[in-house]
Amino acid sequence: MTLSRDDSSGGYDDRDFVAEFYDHVGPYRDRQDVPFYVGMARESGGPVLEIGCGTGRVLIHTARAGVEVVGLDSSENMRALCREKLSREREEVRSRVELSRGDMRRFDFGRTFGLITTPFRPFQHLITVEDQLSCLACVGRHLADGGVFVLDLFNPDLSRLVDEKYMDEQDVEEPFTMPDGRRVTRRHRWAARDPFNQVQDVELIYYVTHPDGREERLVHAFPFRYLFRFEVEHLLARSGFQVEEVYADFDKSPYGSKYPGELIFVARKA
Ligand SMILES: C[S@@+](CC[C@H](N)C(=O)[O-])C[C@H]1O[C@@H](n2cnc3c(N)ncnc32)[C@H](O)[C@@H]1O
Repeated sequence: MTLSRDDSSGGYDDRDFVAEFYDHVGPYRDRQDVPFYVGMARESGGPVLEIGCGTGRVLIHTARAGVEVVGLDSSENMRALCREKLSREREEVRSRVELSRGDMRRFDFGRTFGLITTPFRPFQHLITVEDQLSCLACVGRHLADGGVFVLDLFNPDLSRLVDEKYMDEQDVEEPFTMPDGRRVTRRHRWAARDPFNQVQDVELIYYVTHPDGREERLVHAFPFRYLFRFEVEHLLARSGFQVEEVYADFDKSPYGSKYPGELIFVARKA
């Protein structure tokens, strides 16, 4: 694949500890989306393109299910961890996976896919409409005839968007222990909010206690864009997609059946 510009990070802050802790963070580890994505992959027959594949949390299950999958991610650290996890898989699983460094706003694999997915909201790292359209144009070019695109976002909770308390550190997650004995507590806050551009400056803060008692505070900071249902429908229509389903959850419950729920679109090329 080719990159047409140098800045492949997309503004995403690629810190080594983010990848290292990722699979241990409770809300990531326990996320209930894997059967949904594996089911979609099986139904499509593949090949699958997973945009923002990260540590392979979903991608490896897809390959284990017998489907060929290409993982695209801008983060060296996330892909390195994914590669390491893959090295422990059987050869037939490994042979179904290709990992690629790249930016979701501009990629060219020179081939098409039966399914293109964006598990756990990578698209929300795109802050401007220009970047969103550029990503969707790439997706459109890579979708096979009759192929399916799954766009995975959170549904903004209106009360949360205006609640001042989220500007302070929230302590809501169970601490976890790394294999080397480090004890990690993660908190989060919004360092800033921009309601006009629908952007939150997120800080994920890791408090690390080393086995020797030394303490560290590591911050993963990034802007994150929220999108509303009809805004996304317009974006998809403008990019040549037809929305077939909008789900509120990975059990396929329809949008509107729970609040705030997820905001998951299943679309095809119009
Ligand atoms: C929350 S993680 C999701 C990882 C994985 N899909 C999962 O479900 O666990 C978001 C991923 O998007 C990637 N990402 C962010 N901006 C990107 C960009 N412009 N192009 C490609 N990947 C990007 C990050 O490196 C990160 O791995």
